Amino acid sequence: MTAPVLVVGAGGNVGGAVVRSLTRDGVPVRAAATDPRRLTTPPGVETVRLDLLDPSTFAPAVRGAGALFLVRPPAIARVGPTLNALLDIAAEEGVDHVVFSSVTGADRNRVVPHHRVETHLQASGLPWTILRPGFFAQNLADAYRDDIVADSRILLPAADGTAAFVDVRDVGDVVAVVLADPDAHRGAGYVLTGPRALGFDEVAAILTRELGRPVTYEPTSALRYLRHVRRQGRPFAQAVVQTVLHTGLRRGQAETVDPTLERLLGRPGRTLEQYVHDHRDVWAPR
Ligand SMILES: NC(=O)c1ccc[n+]([C@@H]2O[C@H](COP(=O)([O-])OP(=O)(O)OC[C@H]3O[C@@H](n4cnc5c(N)ncnc54)[C@H](OP(=O)(O)O)[C@@H]3O)[C@@H](O)[C@H]2O)c1
Repeated sequence: MTAPVLVVGAGGNVGGAVVRSLTRDGVPVRAAATDPRRLTTPPGVETVRLDLLDPSTFAPAVRGAGALFLVRPPAIARVGPTLNALLDIAAEEGVDHVVFSSVTGADRNRVVPHHRVETHLQASGLPWTILRPGFFAQNLADAYRDDIVADSRILLPAADGTAAFVDVRDVGDVVAVVLADPDAHRGAGYVLTGPRALGFDEVAAILTRELGRPVTYEPTSALRYLRHVRRQGRPFAQAVVQTVLHTGLRRGQAETVDPTLERLLGRPGRTLEQYVHDHRDVWAPR
């Protein structure tokens, strides 16, 4: 039995996908969450409490792990005492390899918190691989869900910009490929996108076909969108980030399709159609 992979954010989009991909491949997993009792994990998966805001939980969670999968929870902006401190503990505990799921552009964009995690990891002495995914297909079930369920519309300040949506199930599969042969991926940064860039009118058409009811795309201004997501209860900082990211789509910030994911997996990435088809119940009317 090899040492388990400690998966941070195991109840979230990316961490959950990583747990499922590794477990499917027979890799032992230690799934971490702030409250592990709330985790739903495949049979045989070990769980552990890890709160990035509580450093006393770091060493017990990391001890004995062979590798670490790390993702930045959206609510955590101060990465120094949280994610970077966890990386320091991982180095002390002799973890063999770290996979950090970052975001496209974080290597060049010093403003995003992921940048500071990337640079800290690269200087840590730990062997690492950094994944830089683009827009998640899973945003349809997170940020856009309430609008789709309640009003059968997608409201965004994206104008006619497009995004090469990546399905986080593919990100999980890439993590499994990396950790199957970590030395082959040591020191590599991989941009991960889906197979095609789609405008939101096309996204709405896919939802219309799959859900069997009309869903429309309503482009809006940045300010109206910011007010809208604030009214939905999103914290101010996250609402601003969400607005900036979607406004950036107008300038083509997420339109590039990158071949890396297909090369690593040996198959094309999952399409948005596939994602919506597999999760149709998520948008059922309440
Ligand atoms: N959405 C996109 O299109 C996109 C694209 C590229 C990159 N990203 C990046 O991906 C990351 C988000 O990933 P995701 O969608 O998987 O997030 P997510 O679904 O919100 O999951 C985040 C996880 O972190 C855990 N968490 C929250 N607070 C924590 C704490 N204090 N200590 C430990 N764990 C904590 C949460 O569960 P518990 O609290 O239950 O433990 C949750 O499972 C962000 O950094 C984002 O910038 C997003």
